[in-house]
Amino acid sequence: MSSSSDRFILRGQTWAFVGDPFEVGPDAAVSHHVDGAVVVAGGMIEDVGPAASIIARRPDWPIKHYGDALIMAGFVDAHVHYPQVEVIGAYGEQLLEWLNRYTFPAEMKFSDPDYAAGAAELFLDQCLRNGITSASVYCTSHPQSVDAFFSAAQKLGLRMAAGKVMMDRNAPDQLLDTAQTGYDQSKTLIERWHGMDRLSYAVTPRFAPTSTPAQLEAAGVLWREHPTCLVQTHMSESLFELEWMRELYPDAPDYLSVYERYGLVGEGANFGHCIHLNSREIAALKASGSGISHCPTSNTFIGSGLFKMNELREGARAIPIGMATDIGGGTSFSMFGTMKTSYEICQLRGYSLHPAKAYYLATVGSADVLRMGDKIGNLKPGHEADMIVIDLKSTPLIAARMGHANDLWEALFIQVILADDRAIRATYSGGRKLYDRCASAALA
Ligand code: GUN
Ligand code: ZN
Repeated sequence: MSSSSDRFILRGQTWAFVGDPFEVGPDAAVSHHVDGAVVVAGGMIEDVGPAASIIARRPDWPIKHYGDALIMAGFVDAHVHYPQVEVIGAYGEQLLEWLNRYTFPAEMKFSDPDYAAGAAELFLDQCLRNGITSASVYCTSHPQSVDAFFSAAQKLGLRMAAGKVMMDRNAPDQLLDTAQTGYDQSKTLIERWHGMDRLSYAVTPRFAPTSTPAQLEAAGVLWREHPTCLVQTHMSESLFELEWMRELYPDAPDYLSVYERYGLVGEGANFGHCIHLNSREIAALKASGSGISHCPTSNTFIGSGLFKMNELREGARAIPIGMATDIGGGTSFSMFGTMKTSYEICQLRGYSLHPAKAYYLATVGSADVLRMGDKIGNLKPGHEADMIVIDLKSTPLIAARMGHANDLWEALFIQVILADDRAIRATYSGGRKLYDRCASAALA
């Protein structure tokens, strides 16, 4: 039973998904109330509907009025590196040089638990300011970086997935584990954190080039021993990476086959990037139930390539896809900016990503990839009350442009193209308001 203090109503425009827009089309996929209300009790969404009837049935409940602002589910970031905030916008390199020159040196600092704790706090603050309420997070190879992240997320009551990067070759010595220590440390962290409050563990071999076959084997064993954990890794991001993978795994017919060989493919596996897949890999991914994290701002910034959304997500037997910032290869914490770059990438491939589909990927889609789709990612009764309030007129330009918006889709697409963190008016997680733009500090 919830007490009266954790029961309240949010009033504003509400919208939620009632179907998959890739399957049923945009209009049939959503439920939208211009004057709507969300009922929250005990950290859960109890009801969503037209404000008049919702409020009439609960005459004594406190109401927070958000006017014509839009209330929706919090964004879910399907792939992000919390230790890489400090390399956002690192100039001039493509993937492998970018890792060596910027990323690995930054990750070395996370041997210091205090440094990691500060970085985790900064990262989560930025997530909440941008309306990201859940994420699948890469830590570093230091177990203390995982403790720091989960401790910070637990304190805020967030639903988060994260894991220790496993990496036993082709990186600086200070960052390397071994097949055995990577397994042992990951197992200890799983026992400490997986299923604790709202936290999930993701077994995290960085990618095939930085793991020996023995380490991938150990990661597969770990997943079989803890099948409710997730797996996250990178795959087929850049053509140079693909060449390197072929040298390191000369017997493998393609990239996915490496992960298949070690039992790292299936429902709950989350492959970042997936730009240069061949037709066998696409068919095998479709059959496997694995998910893909689409990382648009990272792919353009690092110069990796153009994701094939149409081929991977449209039609029968689509692959589950989540939207991801991939900070710090990615350049923006904003899901609006991330969806904008995704739209632009799709345009360059001759496909127009409808806003219904972009928002779906950034909420329900990501939640499904993280096996959390029954708990978060949508504004519906029975889901946890992870919600954001979007100010649809957050800048003078957006306000002016909104004067010419004819329907919900145009309003949402204008946000994709023009909005940033200023559009996030409030962020709730588990029914608690953790960010309010009008308050001076996040993490209230
Ligand atoms: N591939 C392996 N590690 C990384 C990483 O940290 N970022 C990106 N974008 N790609 C990777
Ligand atoms: Zn990544």
